[in-house]
Amino acid sequence: MSKSGPSSTDASRTHATTSRGAFSSSLGVLAATLGSAVGLGNIWKFPSLTGANGGAGFLLIYLLSTLFIGLPLMVAEIAIGRQARANPISALRQLQPRGAPWWLIGVAGMAAAFLIMAFYSEVVAWVFAYVAKALSGNLLSSDPVQTQASFDALVRDPVQALLWQWVVLAFIGGILLLGVTRGIEAATKRLMPLLFLLLVLLGGYSLTLPGAGQALSFLFAPEWHKITPAVVLTAMGLAFFKLSIGMGTMMTYGSYFTAEQNIPATATRVMLADLSVSLLAGMAIFPAVFSFGFQPSAGPSLVFITIPAVFAQMPGGSVLLAAFFLLTAIAATGAMLSLMEVPVVILHERWGLSRPRATLLTLLILGLLGAGCALSQSTLAAFQPGGRTLFDWADYLSSNLLLPAGGIAIALFVGWAWGERAFAAQLSNHGQLGNQGLARVVSLLLRWVTPVLILLVMLAGLGVFSGT
Ligand code: TRP
Repeated sequence: MSKSGPSSTDASRTHATTSRGAFSSSLGVLAATLGSAVGLGNIWKFPSLTGANGGAGFLLIYLLSTLFIGLPLMVAEIAIGRQARANPISALRQLQPRGAPWWLIGVAGMAAAFLIMAFYSEVVAWVFAYVAKALSGNLLSSDPVQTQASFDALVRDPVQALLWQWVVLAFIGGILLLGVTRGIEAATKRLMPLLFLLLVLLGGYSLTLPGAGQALSFLFAPEWHKITPAVVLTAMGLAFFKLSIGMGTMMTYGSYFTAEQNIPATATRVMLADLSVSLLAGMAIFPAVFSFGFQPSAGPSLVFITIPAVFAQMPGGSVLLAAFFLLTAIAATGAMLSLMEVPVVILHERWGLSRPRATLLTLLILGLLGAGCALSQSTLAAFQPGGRTLFDWADYLSSNLLLPAGGIAIALFVGWAWGERAFAAQLSNHGQLGNQGLARVVSLLLRWVTPVLILLVMLAGLGVFSGT
């Protein structure tokens, strides 16, 4: 195992494709990849960050980062995964030049996965709790004070915060124990279109509210002075988070891709669909913000306090509200599964744990780490090293530091270590698709532009240039 370069164990694992899971069809690949991308990032993180960072300017930078940084990196990760057909650590060991330490990206990715899941599982917990509360019927209200109070009652209660997180972990564990294809594909394929439909309905309705005009100019008319280096870094971090890149999720999913799949086309479709879900969520939420007197900068509570207000106006509001959070829970589950998959498959393929054991160990670690995030607004509320709760630290460090750093490393790996020939072979399915020109461009981008750009944004955003 400690031998450097493509060891024989890595190679034999690679070719033992029969013992590895794989996506069964082209539609399955698309659905699962989309299932990883679409999640709380769209429904929860995108609106709250857009609201807190000034609206349109943030949105613009987010779009640019998605196109010019996110998309090439997503293609790169999937290509690495499909070439190696292994977990991120083994994949990089197999493709790296002899003796080079690129596999460490996989180790960092595993750490990032735990950090993200620690807070992500808690937000999924809130969503689960909201499904139950919506059904009990006492969530609907268009009074900002009231909806904020409902949210606070949940997150400031340590017992509820912790129990719902355990429910989430148990639920995810159950699905994962069923295996890659059955578990992940089946759920996502059927239910994502429903979420999309409900968002269209909700967005359309919200646009008839009196605050719609104000919401549209908040979202689409940039106030340039609000774009600070910190805002740019946050927007770029969101682009990483949204597309599930920078830590090995897309490498892992790439390893299950079919040989015929057109990687750049799939990545582009996923990116566009993901973007439309975020924009729809924004359309649903911001008109309500301006119509009912919420603060766009409410932060992580934003979706939880505004959506009940939108539904409060509709006939059948309670049921629709429950449906909204249920579909959000399902989208979040698909994303969470893809996060879990990284440590699980590493523990399974590299440490020789059975998949069930790897899953249980991951859940156990997560239960411990996650508790810190779950209790960050109750028992641990006073513990704010550096002015952030543990929840906020996990969120901040993963999106603004680990994922971009992972992105730099992956770009450098593909641009400088792996070689353009192999990369182009993956993008063109060994010459069957006409993607060679594209591979050239993306390769140059990954070599010279992407890493520098990410680094500059990170340094500026962290205040290195301003000396703060
Ligand atoms: N993209 C998912 C969302 O928006 C979250 C997610 C899944 C993720 N896998 C990831 C984020 C890997 C970063 C890295 O909800």
